[in-house]
Amino acid sequence: MATTFIHGGTVVSATGKGAADVLVDGERIVALLEPGSTVLGADLATTADTVIDATGKYVIPGGIDAHTHMSMPFGGTQASDTFETGTRAAAWGGTTTIIDFAVQKFGERLQDSLATWHSMADGECAIDYSFHQIVGDVNADSLAAMAGLQDEGITSFKLFMAYPGVFYSDDAQIVRAMQVSAETGLLTMMHAENGPAIDVLAEQLVAAGKTDPYYHGIARAWQLEEEATHRAIMLGNLTGAPLYIVHVSAKQAVGQLAAARDAGQNVYGETCPQYLYLSLEDQLGAPGFEGAKWVCSTPLRSKHDHHQDEVWQALRTNDLQLVSTDHCPFCMKGQKDMGIGDFTKIPNGIGSVEHRMDLLYQGVVDGKISLERWVEITATTPARMFGLYGRKGVIAPGADADIVIYDPAGHTSIGMGKTHHMNMDYSAWEGYEIDGAVDTVLSRGSVVVADRDYVGTKGHGKFVRRELSQYLI
Ligand code: URP
Ligand code: ZN
Ligand code: ZN
Ligand code: ZN
Repeated sequence: MATTFIHGGTVVSATGKGAADVLVDGERIVALLEPGSTVLGADLATTADTVIDATGKYVIPGGIDAHTHMSMPFGGTQASDTFETGTRAAAWGGTTTIIDFAVQKFGERLQDSLATWHSMADGECAIDYSFHQIVGDVNADSLAAMAGLQDEGITSFKLFMAYPGVFYSDDAQIVRAMQVSAETGLLTMMHAENGPAIDVLAEQLVAAGKTDPYYHGIARAWQLEEEATHRAIMLGNLTGAPLYIVHVSAKQAVGQLAAARDAGQNVYGETCPQYLYLSLEDQLGAPGFEGAKWVCSTPLRSKHDHHQDEVWQALRTNDLQLVSTDHCPFCMKGQKDMGIGDFTKIPNGIGSVEHRMDLLYQGVVDGKISLERWVEITATTPARMFGLYGRKGVIAPGADADIVIYDPAGHTSIGMGKTHHMNMDYSAWEGYEIDGAVDTVLSRGSVVVADRDYVGTKGHGKFVRRELSQYLI
């Protein structure tokens, strides 16, 4: 098998960093070596099949984006990145595994939805992938099928307290699904917003002529995120289900998570880059219909209420455990523009799969998180939370050689055209400047990005079966 030797870099893990050389044999990491070591008399820097000089750079485990929606059906259209385009963009940005969501629509068999997602992804991906199961129709058949998910390598499922008439589950359905979660150990992932209440406010706003994208954020008030988060936590407490709240944006929801964790409950949360950098006023409130670019749920929060500061803080204190993107891109033309004159018709979602590693690295530069915490929240904890650890999320012998060489002296200008590779006609991150750059990316030992250029192949990425969460107490 072909060997790859990465030398001269600083290997960063969730717990420390140090100078080390990394030896890869085929698809796996086989050794971490003291710089300058020889192996059985051989200088690997001359004998390995591929030699990568990482001098002055960080060598980190490939990013794991645990929340993406390639080709997701939403509001009469579907997310504009396919598994092919979305995973390629992910690779470009230093992400080597995605966990996407298989979507069970109302009336559909759970097993059929999973088969559909397998057929959409199989042979298309640039990097490895797995699935969570969205349970959009909690009924007796679905509940029975959920018990079989672990045999399929799927160990987490998502429920929605939002989107009545689409993916929504009422409290009775949530309790039943959580009982399965408690019995099986499958992790319950919750979209925690009070959908019926949001729909009342949205209808009233539109009737009053308040139809601009900005009002998406007003209808989806923080109280309705806090309330749903609290309700999910209490139903988790009641049933004993391990619970993970997705896309947390409101500081009050963070407070609910922190209190439950302090009380010893198995409850976790993720946030997304948009909630760390973007706001209700500056983006959603942009003039005319521009704000539609940033319509996502949960919504961007007010910059006057310190949500961003508190979300960054929760990442430091481990009240939030990781950062995913909730990558769900739609083009302005032909997709977002369906909501001109009525914000409720704007498909919900932002595309960021390419930028998560960079945007969070900027948090290191800005002194918000440590270098080690960067690795932890973007790779190591996602691996542990979702049953991939050991194989992914760590640079250690035996692990898949999913490796990013990151250049702290590099620079990344995010924006349109050549500067991003997602299948979108705009960037939600236009104008963002990052003091660092993804240099080289390996996926299971194959170089997929070299000198900041994609050199991988479609279909290299394989489905990864997951174990039960390795994070729960
Ligand atoms: O706006 C969002 N988040 N779109 C994707 C679907 C979801 O709720 O995660
Ligand atoms: Zn060397
Ligand atoms: Zn959601
Ligand atoms: Zn999502």
